[in-house]
Amino acid sequence: MPTVGLGTYKSPPGQVEQAVKDAIDAGYRHFDCAWLYGNEVEVGNALREKINEGTVKREDLFIVSKLWNNFHAKEKVVPMIKETLNNFQMDYIDLYLIHWPFGFKVKKYCYIIYRELADETASLVPVGEGEDAFSDTDYVETWKGMEECVNLGLTKSIGLSNFNAEQIDRVLKKCKIKPVCNQVEVNPNLNQKKLIDFCRQRQRDIVIVGYCPLGRSEYAGTPGFPDPTIYDPKVAEIAKKYNKTPAQVVLNYLISLGISVIPKSVTKSRIIENIDVFDFKLDPGDVSYLDSCNKKSKSITISGI
Ligand SMILES: NC(=O)c1ccc[n+]([C@@H]2O[C@H](COP(=O)([O-])OP(=O)(O)OC[C@H]3O[C@@H](n4cnc5c(N)ncnc54)[C@H](OP(=O)(O)O)[C@@H]3O)[C@@H](O)[C@H]2O)c1
Repeated sequence: MPTVGLGTYKSPPGQVEQAVKDAIDAGYRHFDCAWLYGNEVEVGNALREKINEGTVKREDLFIVSKLWNNFHAKEKVVPMIKETLNNFQMDYIDLYLIHWPFGFKVKKYCYIIYRELADETASLVPVGEGEDAFSDTDYVETWKGMEECVNLGLTKSIGLSNFNAEQIDRVLKKCKIKPVCNQVEVNPNLNQKKLIDFCRQRQRDIVIVGYCPLGRSEYAGTPGFPDPTIYDPKVAEIAKKYNKTPAQVVLNYLISLGISVIPKSVTKSRIIENIDVFDFKLDPGDVSYLDSCNKKSKSITISGI
């Protein structure tokens, strides 16, 4: 898995094609997608265009997608990855993840293609429904469907997202095919060192992929939302010292924790900036400062549900 991938959540369909093409030109080969994001068709168009023009080969790319919470029933997993493959117009993806460890109750319109959902979109994120939102499908059952995707050659590997230590070990105990990664929120406000260590210990051999690595800067200043470290004046000072930007300092720091990162951007200059993070090493004092930013505060929660 290439260490830096392009995030695509909230990348509007009208902008994501260009972003993916700019990313390929900037050297990205890892693309983090999900059925929920509603833009897999456009991501696929851009990837295939770059393959067809000869800039990259399919085997150079590492394409990731995720099974949404409404489809945790074992028999729905293969149809959902097939829908994703149809969106991308590809024969296989490289990694398929269970997006969250809990499923939502299935609503009658779940099989309608996402972009046609219009008013019903809310059912995919059932805010305000409390306990009623959740299905009682065990993610271990869902995992069997994920294994079937590998057996059918629809994905090269499978993994988890938003799983905690206990949930990871339950999957490891019951699985036939091991999860290769766990994608969770990681940024200096929530450095996840404990979970990173846990995933490495006892031959678990699970890579952490850090989402929201920049702390979702679009929500900066929102009450109750943790201040993204890229706006910390001390981080700006550190960045100056290396002739880098705060985002580059943060991404370099996160990579030094031994994880992969998937910053999202639809801005060409930032897309280039976010992968240009390998030509400097932070001094121990700067690393200590970034370590001290850990407040264990999440910017993604499911509290609204
Ligand atoms: N598994 C999960 O449950 C889960 C949850 C959340 C996210 N994810 C994945 O992780 C990816 C990244 O997370 P995220 O998109 O929530 O947050 P993020 O990557 O931390 O932040 C994205 C925001 O930062 C801005 N940005 C990008 N580069 C920047 C730079 N160099 N300087 C300043 N601002 C910059 C982007 O703006 P512009 O685009 O306007 O440039 C965008 O507003 C997602 O896109 C998605 O693929 C997964």
